[in-house]
Amino acid sequence: MQQDFKIAPSILAADFARLGEEVENVLAAGADIVHFDVMDNHYVPNLTVGPMVCKALRNYGITAPIDVHLMVEPVDDLIGQFADAGASIITFHPEASKHVDRSIQLIQQAGCEAGLVLNPATTLESVRHVLPKLDMLLLMSVNPGFGGQKFIPYTIDKLREARAAIDEIVAAEPGRKPIRLEIDGGVTADNIREIAAAGADTFVAGSAIFGKGDYAAAIAAMREQLAQV
Ligand code: DX5
Ligand code: ZN
Repeated sequence: MQQDFKIAPSILAADFARLGEEVENVLAAGADIVHFDVMDNHYVPNLTVGPMVCKALRNYGITAPIDVHLMVEPVDDLIGQFADAGASIITFHPEASKHVDRSIQLIQQAGCEAGLVLNPATTLESVRHVLPKLDMLLLMSVNPGFGGQKFIPYTIDKLREARAAIDEIVAAEPGRKPIRLEIDGGVTADNIREIAAAGADTFVAGSAIFGKGDYAAAIAAMREQLAQV
């Protein structure tokens, strides 16, 4: 069965001096979602961009969903700012919020979809009780903070576990909103098929897309693999 797979290029690997054009080009090349990595040099040892840049992409004319991955601590103050800046999905790391359930509520009340991000060492069990509230679960397959790292192999087992947990929630409540299962870090055309087979349906890729000269060819190579799942 052909599933509803989504490809989400990470802006981290784009040319920031030409960000609007880069995002426009990658969407025209077949991407579905813009993955917007926000780093604060506190929760992770790197610094990127904030709500003003998200807003600038909307002003530039980007209409595709913007998936804001918050690698910041604390979380709550930025939720409203990103909602106002045009974010579609906001995900955060549970370790970075004192009150995870409240942060999820804040995101949804602001009119965005909410997701949690699990670091490689963070267990699925630790978020079991809030899983049914989520619109997205994002599993990190590298330690957050940098692009261009290698996919951590044990994430495959974790994806299988997450897929089973999500399917169980959806089966218990037919017709409910879906929970997307996103993977982030070290995704390439060489491993995307195995990652999809383990249960991911949304694929972040930075260097494997923006690091290539031909974005359309890079995305097509991924879709070719996904068509075989
Ligand atoms: C890492 C970021 C990722 C990163 C992925 O902390 O969350 O989104 O940009 O980059 P690649 O695809 O190069 O591993
Ligand atoms: Zn990310």
